[in-house]
Order: sequence, then C-alpha cells, then structure tokens
Amino acid sequence: MSINILEIIYLIASLTFVIGLKMLSHPESARKGNLIAAVGMLIAVIATISIYQPFDNSKLINYGLIALGLLVGTIIGTMMAKKVQMTAMPQMVSFFNGMGGACAALIAIIEFQNHEVGTGSSFDGEFLVMLLGLIIGSVSFSGSMIAYGKLEGKIKDKVLPMNQLINMIMLFTIVALTVYQMLGYGDSTIFYVLLVVALVYGVLFVMPIGGADMPVVISLLNSFTGVAAAFGGFLYGNKAMLTGGILVGSAGTILTILMCKAMNRSLTNVLLGAFGGTKASGAKGEVGEQTAKEISISDTAVLLSYSQNVVIVPGYGLAVAQAQHICHELEQLLEEKGVTVNYAIHPVAGRMPGHMNVLLAEADVPYERMQEMEEINPRMANTDVVVVIGANDVVNPAAKKDPSSPIYGMPILEVDQAKNVIILKRGMSAGYAGIENELFFYPKTRMLFGDAKDSLQKLTAEVKEV
Ligand code: TAP
Repeated sequence: MSINILEIIYLIASLTFVIGLKMLSHPESARKGNLIAAVGMLIAVIATISIYQPFDNSKLINYGLIALGLLVGTIIGTMMAKKVQMTAMPQMVSFFNGMGGACAALIAIIEFQNHEVGTGSSFDGEFLVMLLGLIIGSVSFSGSMIAYGKLEGKIKDKVLPMNQLINMIMLFTIVALTVYQMLGYGDSTIFYVLLVVALVYGVLFVMPIGGADMPVVISLLNSFTGVAAAFGGFLYGNKAMLTGGILVGSAGTILTILMCKAMNRSLTNVLLGAFGGTKASGAKGEVGEQTAKEISISDTAVLLSYSQNVVIVPGYGLAVAQAQHICHELEQLLEEKGVTVNYAIHPVAGRMPGHMNVLLAEADVPYERMQEMEEINPRMANTDVVVVIGANDVVNPAAKKDPSSPIYGMPILEVDQAKNVIILKRGMSAGYAGIENELFFYPKTRMLFGDAKDSLQKLTAEVKEV
C-alpha cells in the first residue's frame, strides 16, 4: 500500500518537473516554474525518506546522516545562490551540475558494493546501468569542476600536446574496460580503475576548450548529469529521479544544440576549441589604420531626446557594468519625452541563455519592450537611433559579409540598417569571438567611450536637462 502512495507522489513530482520546465521558457513565468519544480522535488525527497523501505530490511536507514546531509547541502546552496552575481551564474550552474554528476557516480559506487559481478553467462542489465551511471557521472563531475575553475579564472585554457589523441585513447579505454566488466572478467579493482579513468577523461575533455565556450560545454555536461541521474533512477526504480534525469538530459541537449545554432557553429567546432583568439584592441578609438568617430554625452542626449524611436541593444558589457537599472531609467525618461524605446534581444547576447532577459527583468523593464531578433530586425531601417550598450559580436556585420570570419553565418541584429548607431563601450576591445567589428567605423556610427553604467548615468542627467 505504502509503495503505491510513493508511486503516486513520484508521479506528481514528475508532473511538477514538466510544468516547471515549461514555465521556465518565459521570463514572466520562470520564477514560479522554478518554485513549482523545487516543491515537487522537496515532496519527492520527503516521501522517499519517510515511506521508502529498502528491499533488504537488514539495512537500516540512517536518518541522522540524511538530515545532516540535507542541512549542510541546504546551507551551502542557499549561501551560494544568495551571494552569486548575475555574471557569475554560469560557474554556479557548473558547480551544482558537477555535484549532480558526483551524486550519480556515488550511487553507482554504493550500489556496486551490493552487487555481485556476473559471470558473463547472462546479460546483467542492472550492472550496465550502474557502470554507465558511474562513467557519465564521473565525467560530468570532473568536467564541470574544470569548467567552474575556468570561468572563475582559476584554471587557464591548456591544450596538452596530442590532447585529442590522448582523449581518443581514454575514451577507447573506458569502452574496453566496460565491455571487459560486462563480460564478467572484471573485479572491483577494474571498477575503480574505470572510475579514475572517467574522472581523468572529464578533465582532459574540458581542459583544451576555450574558456569563453564554457556555457555551451556546461549545457552539454548538464545533459550528461541528467542521463547519469536517470540511470540512478532506473537502478532504484525511482520514477521521479528517472523523469527528472531524462528531462535534464533532454533539456541540456536541446539547449546545447540551440546555442550552437544561434552562434552558427557546430558542436565539434566548440569542443575542438577552434574559436576566439587575438583580441582586437588599440588606442581608444583606433584599430590598425582605422579611426572611429566619437560622440559626446551632450550630443547623444540631444540626438536621443529628439528621436521618434530608439532601439537599445544590450550585450555582455551591460551585465559586466551592472547598468541595467540606469538603462531602464534612461528608457523611461525618453518615453516621457515621447520617444518610443524598445530593446533588441539577440539569442546569445551575454554569456548564458536568456541572460539579457533576466538582466532587464531584474530592472523591471516591461517584457513587451524586449523584442526578439526576428521581430525587430525588419524594423531597424525605420529606427532613428540604435544604442548598443556593451554588445559587440551580436551586431558585427562580418557575420553577414565576411565568409572568412569565425562568426560568418551567425544571425545578427542588423543595427547598421538604422539611421544612427551609438556604441557604448570602454575602448576598442573585441568581444567574446575575439574579432574586430567594422560597424565601429561606419559613417553612421559614433562611439561613446566609458564604462556603460558611468556613461548611462551621465547621459540620464543630461537628457533631464534637454
Ligand atoms: P561581446 O561580443 O562579448 O562584447 C561585449 C563587449 O562589451 C566587449 O567588446 C567590451 O568592450 C564591452 N564591455 C565590457 N565591459 C564593459 C563595461 N563595463 N562597459 C561597457 N562596455 C563593456 O558581447 P555580446 O555582443 O553580448 O555577444 C555575446 C557573445 O558571447 C557572442 O559571441 C556569443 O556567441 C557568445 N556566447 C554567448 C552565450 C550565450 S548563451 N549568451 C554562450 C556562449 C557564448 P570593451 O572592453 O572595449 O568595453
């Protein structure tokens, strides 16, 4: 009877995960969606602890230890989530993801203690699931820790000599050891060798990938963790864990594909790290022979105040400068003066999916003002002024014009179609892709140099005077 109740609770928890995930796809419902799924998870955890009976009754459930684990995890998780800066979100996701991978691997290790290694005479599906959970969980754990270290700037990108070859050999070793185990030849030593090889493989897999490509890699590792957790759910016959794992696995995979698509790059290109490179920089306003035209704060204020419609393009620099609130203030001021202001959101602006939406929502920018690329591009030609704030790659015309450019083919916000373009950035440094942007030298473009927050504060003060 109690098992049935547990099954029903798992079903309800699974439903909350699906509903929560669906709600996460829109900024307006995302918070609530997250909360619903979290409540579902909490119910599943409480139900498991209070109702679940181990098959082997000789094994007592250590409630004290479980409570301690829950307490420590909750305290650390809450503290980290409260402290984290929005720009540091990818590394926190990576860290939490690594913990998920470690859990999946630990489940496999614990269950291995209770498992008799087969003789190879019959196929032992449970053992295979255990081994896969161990391998994928371990790769995800060590890979995520390296990704975390890179994003924190604690680990530098490092391509070992013959890295790809070593990776291939490691992968082959993992497959060979798994087959050896499954055929019944292995013992516990091989099991732990497999654990170590998988951990080392995770490190070597992520190590050569460029630091800036980490968000895509994290999403991929996230899908690994989901799959590993699903194996854990399979092992325990735990439907909530199984559904949760499958949802994380598929969502992570879809997100990885979407990110690659939005950057017009293949996953292989991301994983082999053939991106980014020398930063284009020079004296303020100069790159090579070219010189960009500057504009003053007061001229910008006049231009904006007497425009009919303005489009703001937020980018990574807006997040770095934490200028979202002052940006919203400027937008409101202009609206009061009768100027129509909208935001153009590129799908990969910033450093994580939905980065700009989250940032602007934090400053209470109304959702209807945030327009998707496909929606706003056709209206660029009728826009008086586009204000690009800390964005670079997402407005780089090379993506359309230069087949030799690493971003060629990436859809961009076509700001060069507008009547005037004003770019707020500190200098001439390149963005994430490490390439020059000829938009800065177009006749209709003018640069407003300085930290985005600082420039916007001065601009807002000036607009008030116009
Ligand atoms: P970026 O191309 O990275 O350019 C950001 C610009 O902001 C830089 O050129 C920098 O120039 C400027 N900046 C930095 N700090 C600033 C500050 N305090 N004040 C003013 N400006 C500042 O940004 P983007 O246009 O948003 O493009 C995002 C890039 O990230 C794309 O290439 C995309 O493919 C990649 N990416 C995105 C994601 C997701 S999911 N969003 C994931 C992986 C990769 P200065 O130093 O001269 O100021």
